Amino acid sequence: MSINTHNLFFMVLVSLTLVNFSNNAALSIFEQKKYKRSADGGGLYSSKDDVEILTVENFKNEIYGNERAWLVEFYNSWCGFCQRFAPSWKALATDVKDWQDVIAIGVIDCSNDDNYPICRDFEVMAYPTLRYFHENYKEGPKNFGMKVYAGSDVNEHRQKLIQVIVNEQIEGRGKMYPNLLPYTYDNKSKLFESVPEKVEYVFLIIQEPSQFLGHEVIMDLHKIKDFVVRYAYNNNTELVKSLNINKFPALYVIGRDNTFQALNSITDNRESYKATIRTFLIPKHINVPLDDKNNKMYTGKWADAPVPDMTAFMQEREREALKEKVKKMGDVIFQMDLETALRYSLKHEIASVKEITGEKLEALKAYLNILVKYFPFGKYGQSFLVELRDYVSSEAVVKGTEIGKMLQDAEKEDRQVFSSPQQWLACKGSSPTYRGYPCGLWKMFHYLTINAADSSARLKGSNPKIVLEAMHGYIKNFFGCADCSQHFQEMAKLREMDKVASWDDSILWLWKAHNEVNKRLAGDATEDPEYPKVQFPSKEKCRQCYNPDNSWNNQEVLRYLKQVYSSINVRYIGSDTRILHLGLDGSFSAGSSTMFKTIDTSMCFILYVASFLLIITLIRMFLKRGYRKKMYVHDLLGKV
Ligand SMILES: Cc1cc2nc3c(=O)[nH]c(=O)nc-3n(C[C@H](O)[C@H](O)[C@H](O)COP(=O)(O)OP(=O)(O)OC[C@H]3O[C@@H](n4cnc5c(N)ncnc54)[C@H](O)[C@@H]3O)c2cc1C
Ligand SMILES: *[C@@H]1O[C@H](CO)[C@@H](O)[C@H](O)[C@H]1NC(C)=O
Ligand SMILES: *[C@@H]1O[C@H](CO)[C@@H](O)[C@H](O)[C@H]1NC(C)=O
Repeated sequence: MSINTHNLFFMVLVSLTLVNFSNNAALSIFEQKKYKRSADGGGLYSSKDDVEILTVENFKNEIYGNERAWLVEFYNSWCGFCQRFAPSWKALATDVKDWQDVIAIGVIDCSNDDNYPICRDFEVMAYPTLRYFHENYKEGPKNFGMKVYAGSDVNEHRQKLIQVIVNEQIEGRGKMYPNLLPYTYDNKSKLFESVPEKVEYVFLIIQEPSQFLGHEVIMDLHKIKDFVVRYAYNNNTELVKSLNINKFPALYVIGRDNTFQALNSITDNRESYKATIRTFLIPKHINVPLDDKNNKMYTGKWADAPVPDMTAFMQEREREALKEKVKKMGDVIFQMDLETALRYSLKHEIASVKEITGEKLEALKAYLNILVKYFPFGKYGQSFLVELRDYVSSEAVVKGTEIGKMLQDAEKEDRQVFSSPQQWLACKGSSPTYRGYPCGLWKMFHYLTINAADSSARLKGSNPKIVLEAMHGYIKNFFGCADCSQHFQEMAKLREMDKVASWDDSILWLWKAHNEVNKRLAGDATEDPEYPKVQFPSKEKCRQCYNPDNSWNNQEVLRYLKQVYSSINVRYIGSDTRILHLGLDGSFSAGSSTMFKTIDTSMCFILYVASFLLIITLIRMFLKRGYRKKMYVHDLLGKV
């Protein structure tokens, strides 16, 4: 093969990898929409808040024909106003928690694709929009709820709500609320009118027309049926005169026998008035519960509220969405998991050995040797492994700390060794105690056996046990889980690893060994409940891997493994594929280039044409799109 055609093959591979990249890393518009949707879920409010979260699922059920009224905020997670507004709205829900049986404070996230039709049907044009839905609300062509204006802080929100309720009562609705209309008679005699007979006390708050204290205390205490609270305005001069009041607001208690008494509250506010009423009633054996509101609610002006950190918020959502996506992708491998396993192995297991000599050193050499050959790295990743192997081979005693230093240096971004952040993707457990490194290590060794077989099978005199032996040496000498190491060595003896005679056998040997471990650990305390240990591959994933009598069909299993762990099945979610491509434009070591030598030269021309067309298309595509700097996890799910 001439130099020229050789280079062409590299180009073909570059373009094929780029196609692969666009398939994997960049999500389709459909996917972006889908993940955006699942990412948006609960929006700016969570179940920990006192607001009630409405969604497309429950909105109509809650709003129509309900005995309670609703005050709903229609919002959009991405609107800055809504983000600032949210703390004050949460505060309102907390503030009027005691009113919940008659008026619910709700929210619906219109940025959620599922909820959006509701917002559209209700003709919500701006965010945030507040609408009041009275009790027993009916569906109708123009029944979109009544617009309510927001206050500037939680106190004003509450006052606006009170005004709405008062108007409702003036219009003859809102019968489930306590009476929020002022007492307008000029003497006390009508206070007990339409009050249940068992009630002995009416508390009367006299306030200025601008005040809401009476309304608030009435609403707060409305659930207690042993007494009644009313309010009157101080322009009710006859009444005021008869009660001898000289300052407002004022609190009185009136008995059924028309006796009355002024009650002195320490301060003229809602809490203090309630405390005064509570104290008065204690000897009467009427219990007024203490407030249990959390004091951390936001009381400032909502326009001044800090915008919450939406990136952290988004990242959390993205992680969830990503987890689902990765789960759905099934039996594939990720560059990120392979690199993270490798890094962990070097950093935590090899670098922590003080002095590596003798058998350990031989094991390390063998390990690095197969990594150099078969680990899916780019150009600089390759050279790093070569550098590491050469260093290790040249010393009689290797210090773990030296390896640690070399790794640390290789982790510098400008070295372009690693293409992925050190995180788990498919090997991420549902909690940090599950999965992770052992999962990554299994995957890496499966990958290495299968790719060694793939690229070396045709080489005469090559050793089909090369990966298994290296793995055995690694597990024996470096793997931190002592039990695992012990078990694995026993298994190697029992299952006669040394008798493995072909590349395919080496693949199947490791597969069988891993399944034995899976069987032993199924139901074990170390099992991640979200990822139960099953025999691999499962019937759902590979029906033909099972014979009719449920035994394995080894040929099919082999085929399946070769497909799952093949280099073209590596997915690049969260990895910077440009770093990996670097391996293809320069000198490249044995592993990957042997692949080309096996390709029939007659394919050259077809590939030449194909690659030419592909490159042209790609250049145009990238010119249009611009090249994104880094493709890390949070970049992948389409920011809004
Ligand atoms: C060499 C070795 C020995 C171990 N020995 C023990 C032990 O004795 N006791 C102990 O408690 N833990 C042991 N562990 C850890 C244990 O096997 C799991 O790795 C760990 O519990 C995490 O489990 P997991 O659910 O992530 O799946 P893992 O078993 O780690 O599997 C990771 C992934 O590999 C794939 N896979 C599963 N089975 C196969 C298969 N047969 N062939 C190919 N691919 C497969 C699946 O996609 C799976 O998600 C050992 C790990 C290793 C690497
Ligand atoms: C109280 O007012 C009503 C009418 O508003 C009147 O009929 C009644 O006589 C008054 N009672 C007293 C004690 O003044
Ligand atoms: C007292 O004030 C209220 C509220 O402003 C008003 O509606 C009412 O008409 C006034 N009553 C009198 C007697 O002035």
